[in-house]
Amino acid sequence: MKKYNVGIIGYGWAAGAHIEAINKTTQAQVTAVFSSRKLDDAELTAKHGSPIKTYQNLDEMLANPDIHVVDIASYPSQHRDQAVKAANAKKHIILEKPMANSLQEVREIAAAAKSNDVKGCVCFECRWSNQFTVTKAVIDEGLLGDLHYGEVDYYHGIGPWYGQFRWNTGKKDGGSALLTAGCHAMDALLMMMGSEVESVTSFSTKSSSDIFKPYEYDTSSVTLLHFKNGAIGKSAAIVDCLQPYYFHTHLCGSQGSLLDDKFHSMKLHTDKGAWSKLSMKMLDSGDVSDHPYQSQFQAFFDALDEGKDMPLTSFPESLRSFEVIFAADKSAELGGKPVKISELG
Ligand SMILES: NC(=O)c1ccc[n+]([C@@H]2O[C@H](COP(=O)([O-])OP(=O)(O)OC[C@H]3O[C@@H](n4cnc5c(N)ncnc54)[C@H](O)[C@@H]3O)[C@@H](O)[C@H]2O)c1
Repeated sequence: MKKYNVGIIGYGWAAGAHIEAINKTTQAQVTAVFSSRKLDDAELTAKHGSPIKTYQNLDEMLANPDIHVVDIASYPSQHRDQAVKAANAKKHIILEKPMANSLQEVREIAAAAKSNDVKGCVCFECRWSNQFTVTKAVIDEGLLGDLHYGEVDYYHGIGPWYGQFRWNTGKKDGGSALLTAGCHAMDALLMMMGSEVESVTSFSTKSSSDIFKPYEYDTSSVTLLHFKNGAIGKSAAIVDCLQPYYFHTHLCGSQGSLLDDKFHSMKLHTDKGAWSKLSMKMLDSGDVSDHPYQSQFQAFFDALDEGKDMPLTSFPESLRSFEVIFAADKSAELGGKPVKISELG
């Protein structure tokens, strides 16, 4: 028997990837699934390789004392109520992005976890990707010097060919270009820059293509960031583009620059007239089976063993990213008026 039993909320696309990743960790296994649909225990047990009991009543699943962790992979508009209930039932929480679609709800989730002394893991799994682990190591080794400019952008056309289009076109669950998907790029930028954000300015628009007509909100946004240490940054969230998936990174510092998987460093005396190449696995797909959930969940369970917040994607850390995201959406709503993080209220 492994140490942590996990109950999943929502049995959709992300949940399938989560179950596989959790069952591959050393300490945890999925033993319960709650879904609005009636599911078959024997079928899920055979499919996922751990003994799974299914529930159609969330309170019943949360009342099971043998469940230690709840993993929320449901529609975003359900996240707040489910996460607060799970925290009040003293379960640790894995929570898919967006944490929720309003800052107040995100704060309520973080507060409920804190007051119940349970730990959280937000699925900002790009922080655990090989691409950003290596990029962060390049920065931490000082190869780029002090960063004064950074941009990380998300280009992924989410049209009718994509499963989430069924529900992410509505404002209630989709929220904004940042909340529905671009938050991964903004969060990666915040991780790379390593300084708190002072203020943001954002603009948004949408494609004139009929393909993206069902969206009830602007599906392209661009945010300029002013960091407390004086650095500046930019993050675009483009979910209405017609092109291959592209997670774009460009960082400039006092000793060199990095562009995606290429770099130049004065410290290494490389040729400034040509890029040097970093060999690493790039984030080049929106497919959840390509996402580094396993490394992230392993780090979460390791941190639970020690009774600590996990590194990189704990509730307090991700709350800071969501403050910036909600500030950006507020600025876009105000037509680009700068919004200070300290004035979010
Ligand atoms: N971190 C990432 O990169 C990433 C990737 C994909 C999804 N997500 C997030 O995961 C969450 C779920 O997204 P998803 O892509 O898994 O969505 P999904 O549409 O596959 O599932 C969403 C919800 O619908 C339910 N559902 C699915 N089919 C159903 C059916 N036939 N009848 C009744 N209910 C059904 C699921 O149980 C789940 O609660 C969202 O918050 C999303 O933003 C994150």
